[in-house]
Amino acid sequence: MSLQRPTMPPTVSATAGIQTSESIAEVPINNVVLWKDNPRKNDAAVPKLADVIKTRGQVTPVVVWRKNMVAYKGNTTIKALKLLGYKTVKVLYADFPSETAAIAYGIADNKSSEWSEWDDEILKRFQQAESVDLTTAGFTLKNVQMLTGYDDLNVSESGGFFSVYPQSEVIEEGLKLFRKNGFPFPSVTKFEAMQIINTLASMPKDSLRTSPLGGNVADTYNPHRFSVNVRGSSWSATQSFAQDRHLRHAIEFATKGGAILRYQLFGALTIVYSTQIPANFRPAFARMMYDGLAPRGGRVLDPSAGYGGRLVGFISSQCQEYVGVDPCHETMVGNGRLAADLAFRKHVRLIEKPFEDVSDAELMKGKPFDFAFTSPPYFTKEIYSKENTQSCNRYPEYTAWRDKFLHVLIRRCYNVLKKGSHFVLNIENVRIKGELVPLVDDAKAYAEKCGFHFHAKEYYPIGNRPSSQRNEDGEHVYKSIHSGLETVLIFKKP
Ligand SMILES: C[S@@+](CC[C@H](N)C(=O)[O-])C[C@H]1O[C@@H](n2cnc3c(N)ncnc32)[C@H](O)[C@@H]1O
Repeated sequence: MSLQRPTMPPTVSATAGIQTSESIAEVPINNVVLWKDNPRKNDAAVPKLADVIKTRGQVTPVVVWRKNMVAYKGNTTIKALKLLGYKTVKVLYADFPSETAAIAYGIADNKSSEWSEWDDEILKRFQQAESVDLTTAGFTLKNVQMLTGYDDLNVSESGGFFSVYPQSEVIEEGLKLFRKNGFPFPSVTKFEAMQIINTLASMPKDSLRTSPLGGNVADTYNPHRFSVNVRGSSWSATQSFAQDRHLRHAIEFATKGGAILRYQLFGALTIVYSTQIPANFRPAFARMMYDGLAPRGGRVLDPSAGYGGRLVGFISSQCQEYVGVDPCHETMVGNGRLAADLAFRKHVRLIEKPFEDVSDAELMKGKPFDFAFTSPPYFTKEIYSKENTQSCNRYPEYTAWRDKFLHVLIRRCYNVLKKGSHFVLNIENVRIKGELVPLVDDAKAYAEKCGFHFHAKEYYPIGNRPSSQRNEDGEHVYKSIHSGLETVLIFKKP
């Protein structure tokens, strides 16, 4: 497309009686007249569009009827350009056969922009893996937060955080601080952990589903979680942190949300340069399961203990004895320290082995369990260590993994549970190399084959994913809901 000064280029194309100029003209902005009867209310959109134009300039022209110089498309653009102090505007001239045709065109152009939807997964990929900063493309930080599940910060929409110190100064100060102190691993003292666990134990039922309380207690004992490389992502959190470019970008993101404290960097790290942190289970949700489905003083089994989230949930629950199995050495050392510091009058036994290698007798030690609850690896979705005892390293092919790990886990839980007790499995279908792996259906079918009765399905909310909706002005807005839901299958042994 060429830019030219003359205001009257020849008209060439004609559709439904409307002819448009062949090229774009740049004309004094005050020569263009805003559409007085524009039925689209656009004043609220003007500063937002001005932000986008500030980064990229005016790329698409406004459409002006050359007869009366009225703009029938691009009124918000003209207002945004004026706000930014532009003296000229890029214009495509149209010759409408009548005013009615011009008005119908203006309405149709506005209306048609409402018909498309966002593909949130693709947007998320652009933001996380390809480092397209969506906040420079019209999305608010809150939108990005919801899109990526980045919920460390209480992000405010109001902005204005850099009124005294410019953001660049704040970022450099943050960089200096983080470089001096190193990776901000969560770390609570035993004094703090005891109070957190007391609070968890008395937390009302309706807060348990989504509360993040106690996650930092589990993380204090399992800091290696932040160095695990998740399949499909390029960097672990500590690897990303080590690179100035990544860290600067993460601080930039986090500070846009308002005040950022030392530990509030994790979420921001996970939205830059394809960085991911493997999940830890929320202790509050775990307590909801233990207290809802196991008897008071119960003996519980966790076949894939993970990073201690369920162990903290158990300590805060009314259950008395926890047997946890996991082959990851670092994780079991961490959980062992957690139990030694915090289990208090409860009994914790940890078995550092692949679950499929532990016999029923070794698990039970003569006493069957009142409850079994776990969140196993989702096949090869997250690889927790290079140890060949990890189920995904041992059985890299799906059917072998399913038959020799997942099915054995389910069968063994059936064997070691008391009659009438529950087995809870947090599991989700995953996509590996584009192929759907039907973990939920496979697990449910096999559990029923073993003799379990399917009791109920629960959902475990994971982060805020957005749902794209329209407000009354027809604008896309992101609704803050926990739409990332993982399945929790609840079975009963008859
Ligand atoms: C971290 S959890 C899965 C994530 C889940 N959302 C959670 O936090 O509970 C998975 C755990 O399964 C463990 N695991 C891997 N192979 C296993 C096996 N053969 N038997 C038991 N656990 C295993 C891993 O070491 C890891 O700690």
